[in-house]
Amino acid sequence: MVEMIRTATNMYNHGWDERNGGNISMLLDEAEVREYLDMQSICTLETGFAAPELDGRFFLVTGTGKYFMNVQYDPAKNLGIVRLIEDGTKAELLWGYTDGGRFTSEFSAHMMSHVARLVVDPLNRVVMHCHPGNLLAMTYVHDLDERAFTRTLWQMCTECIVVFPDGVNVLPWMLCGTNEIGEATAKKMETARLVVWAQHGIYGAGRDLDETFGLIETAEKAAEIYLKIAHLPLVNTITDEQMHLLEQRFGVKAREGYLQ
Ligand code: 13P
Ligand code: ZN
Repeated sequence: MVEMIRTATNMYNHGWDERNGGNISMLLDEAEVREYLDMQSICTLETGFAAPELDGRFFLVTGTGKYFMNVQYDPAKNLGIVRLIEDGTKAELLWGYTDGGRFTSEFSAHMMSHVARLVVDPLNRVVMHCHPGNLLAMTYVHDLDERAFTRTLWQMCTECIVVFPDGVNVLPWMLCGTNEIGEATAKKMETARLVVWAQHGIYGAGRDLDETFGLIETAEKAAEIYLKIAHLPLVNTITDEQMHLLEQRFGVKAREGYLQ
């Protein structure tokens, strides 16, 4: 809980979550939840989709319409703990949303992404969405081809390929808050932990809040460098040969076919 509050505050302070922008979901350990809660259901909410893989699982989730800047002052109003039931078509509220609120409008994208990432990495716990300015700006001026987008980011900072060797997947503009964008995001999550929503923001997935935050932070930093140099003549870059050296040095493998 403390980490969730700290992360939401940090994201707000980075300018990634204006107003109610962004949302976070974290898969919780049942034993951990039982230690703190009496497990009484406050109410049952319809999810609007099915996620049988997550039946019975517990999540700490930011509330819809809630401001990240306020999470630290009233966590119980801005966050909630839910248990998915009935094949994920319903969620029991066990704690939070004290003003009668509900989970983020992007709940389907979060839950479907959890399903997709847990297949790839059973230790995945966090899905995070936000609106970082440089990545968002980049989607207006850069080719949205995933290989091209990823290669540009990798070329902007030496450590990018080390932090996200699986690259960045990209969705074209789609209507947010729908099951369609949720399904499309989850499909993209099968092959990368970062999914850019063009002209909207980004999704990240990871084993804990720090790792997921760091993933987005690294991509956002690369996008910032890109925007600083995109209009200038390019004199130097990180070559594919150098990227291969990074692969060897850090024991990572770049996404298949993304390097020459
Ligand atoms: P929520 O307030 O419903 O979480 O929505 C914020 C957002 O970023 C939508 O994409
Ligand atoms: Zn958003």
